[in-house]
Order: sequence, then C-alpha cells, then structure tokens
Amino acid sequence: MVDTVIVMGVSGAGKTTVAEDLARVMGWPMAEGDDFHPPANVAKMHEGQPLNDEDRWPWLRSIADWIGQREAEGQSSVVTCSALKRSYRDVLRDGHPSVRFCHLITGIGLIRGRMEHRKGHYMPPSLLESQVATLEPLEPDENGVVVDVSGTEQEVLQAVLKALGLTPVGS
Ligand SMILES: Nc1ncnc2c1ncn2[C@@H]1O[C@H](COP(=O)(O)OP(=O)(O)O)[C@@H](O)[C@H]1O
Ligand SMILES: [Mg+2]
Repeated sequence: MVDTVIVMGVSGAGKTTVAEDLARVMGWPMAEGDDFHPPANVAKMHEGQPLNDEDRWPWLRSIADWIGQREAEGQSSVVTCSALKRSYRDVLRDGHPSVRFCHLITGIGLIRGRMEHRKGHYMPPSLLESQVATLEPLEPDENGVVVDVSGTEQEVLQAVLKALGLTPVGS
C-alpha cells in the first residue's frame, strides 16, 4: 500500500528534520515543498513580498503532481509543506487517497529558540507570528496525526513513527 506523509506545521516546527529522518529510516524518497515554487513566486519572495493564495495554488498543484507520480509508481514518500490552511491541504490530497498529514506542534518560544541556531535560513520573528495566526489545525475528517516536537530529534522521530503506525525497514 502506498503511503504519502506530508509533514506540516509552521516554519521552524521541524518539518525538514522530521522528513529527512523519516525518509532515511523508511527508505522513502523525500520532497521539500518549498522547492516546488514557480519562478514568479521565488522572485516575489526574494523581493520580500508575501505570497497570496492565488500564488499558492499552482505551487500546491505541483506538489500534488509529484505525489501523484510517486503513487503511480507504487512508491511511498514523504513531503514537507507548511499546509497551514485546510484549503491548501484540500489541493494536496485532491485525487491522492494515499495522503495523510503529520502536523508538528510545539510552543512558539521553543521554535524561536531553535530557529536562532538554524544555519543559512533567516526568518523574521513576525513571519512566525503570522504563520501561527494563519494556521488552521487538522479537522476531524482529515486523515492525519498531530505530534508534539518538544523532545529530542530521536524522541520526535519515534513519536512520529508511532503516531503514523510505521515500522522502519530492517527492524
Ligand atoms: N527535536 C529537535 N530538537 C532540537 N532542535 C530541533 C529539533 N527538530 C528540529 N530542530 C532544529 O530546529 C530548527 C528548525 O527545524 P527545521 O527542520 O528546519 O524546521 P522547518 O523545516 O519546519 O522550518 C533547525 O535548526 C533544526 O535543526
Ligand atoms: Mg524546512
């Protein structure tokens, strides 16, 4: 059975960290949602302009296309995408029944502390606040799990595997 896990949450919640760990222990390919932005969005972000939802639809559809290609190959995968709004998640799962979400949550103070140590990725404090304000948590009818990421990287990985009911390859 094909399994597609979209690791979601605000910037700094640990999406890339969790997805890389999950991809490694499961032997799955991984995609960074941010890599799917069309050139117009990249240009906007470079100029410091915020993206609006019209900018986001083609981006989200590109991520969904990648997921569809993996499904067609019978290949499970893991994808990072903040997926803050339900309407964004609707695009990501549209036509892709293998998709489930893994929402990473923790306190804003802990995220700020971790971000200060993150290399090569500056984020203004206001961005985190606006992301927290925008966030629409998973609704009961959405296929997904919520994992607290306050622990160590290893603890978080174990919690993610447990919540998703996954067993790493070779164990
Ligand atoms: N469980 C953890 N414990 C400590 N630091 C963590 C943990 N998970 C992630 N980090 C660190 O927090 C920062 C943000 O994580 P990252 O995976 O880049 O988040 P995102 O992809 O959601 O923006 C990085 O510096 C990362 O190394
Ligand atoms: Mg990331």
